[in-house]
Amino acid sequence: MPTKPVFLTQFLIEEMREHGEQMPDLRLLIEVVTRACKRISIAIGKGALGGVLGEAGTGNIQGEAQKKLDVLSNDILMEANEWGGHLAALASEEMDEAVMIPEQFPKGGYLLLFDPLDGSSNIDVNISVGTIFSVLRAPRRPTGPLEESFLQAGTQQVCAGYALYGPSTQLVLTIGTGVHVFTLDRELGSFVLTQRDLRIPADTQEFSINASNARHWEAPVKRYIDECLAGKDGPRGKDFNMRWVASMVSDVHRILTRGGVFMYPLDAKTKAQGGKLRLMYEANPMSMLIEQAGGAASTGRERILAIKPGKLHQRVPVIMGSKNEVERVASYHAGG
Ligand code: AHG
Ligand code: MN
Ligand code: MN
Ligand code: MN
Repeated sequence: MPTKPVFLTQFLIEEMREHGEQMPDLRLLIEVVTRACKRISIAIGKGALGGVLGEAGTGNIQGEAQKKLDVLSNDILMEANEWGGHLAALASEEMDEAVMIPEQFPKGGYLLLFDPLDGSSNIDVNISVGTIFSVLRAPRRPTGPLEESFLQAGTQQVCAGYALYGPSTQLVLTIGTGVHVFTLDRELGSFVLTQRDLRIPADTQEFSINASNARHWEAPVKRYIDECLAGKDGPRGKDFNMRWVASMVSDVHRILTRGGVFMYPLDAKTKAQGGKLRLMYEANPMSMLIEQAGGAASTGRERILAIKPGKLHQRVPVIMGSKNEVERVASYHAGG
């Protein structure tokens, strides 16, 4: 960690200056989003004392029962962002449709998408959860329904990031110039730069998958995992370790930190809906971070960031992490 703390604002100004383009609106938007993440972090930190645990008693468009914190986190992000003047519209995992910035507030040139609380099944057992977000440019002359403005490939993202609410709260961010990690100084209420230019090792000995779905997997994924499980005596010639937190944010954070491959592949259970994870709130922002850190992200059949979305809540199979491992899984899908 640098001796003189670098706060998020200073980092963004200097990073943008170094890369030749000041984008004050994007910087202010990131600051608004991360301020909301601080509020979510505080609410989560209160746990049972804050009365925020348990079910909300409602459902979302994903067919999931909402936790109180799913709804609260969504409300915090909505409330923080609608008046800022940097956004044209927002979309969330927890809302049926995209929302235009209300008439009484000024509009800006960006679109914000978020998974307000990722891993919410872990909330009641006090295991790490997070918030994932993605920023796109709003089309200059939007045509058709609002949803269409959002249907841009992940390569068009101008910023992606997540907040991880773990033993410490961290912010992991990219504006297309590498991946940078900030840690929340709880006394100051500020995110401080703690790691610049995170890189994922190309090879790994660790994988992350919900193995209870093994009987539903397709043959290429089964082959890859079987080879990992065979260890030193198998075709890989080394032992593999396995980890599954069941919060994508935590699982991907571990992979960004020490390498590995994270998978929620297509399986017989999720095939009808195209996969389990959401393309625009989960897969795209995480894929941008992974690629910016030198890793790869694929459905097994194509690069996730190249997908042209057909609908806002589209789902997608996800295989991401250390480059050589992701390419190996993709080659098995291609019949290699
Ligand atoms: P969310 O809590 O936003 O709905 O996302 C949950 C996702 C993801 O975080 C995680 O990787 C996966 O669901 C866990 O799935 P399993 O319950 O099958 O382990
Ligand atoms: Mn959910
Ligand atoms: Mn999620
Ligand atoms: Mn969620």
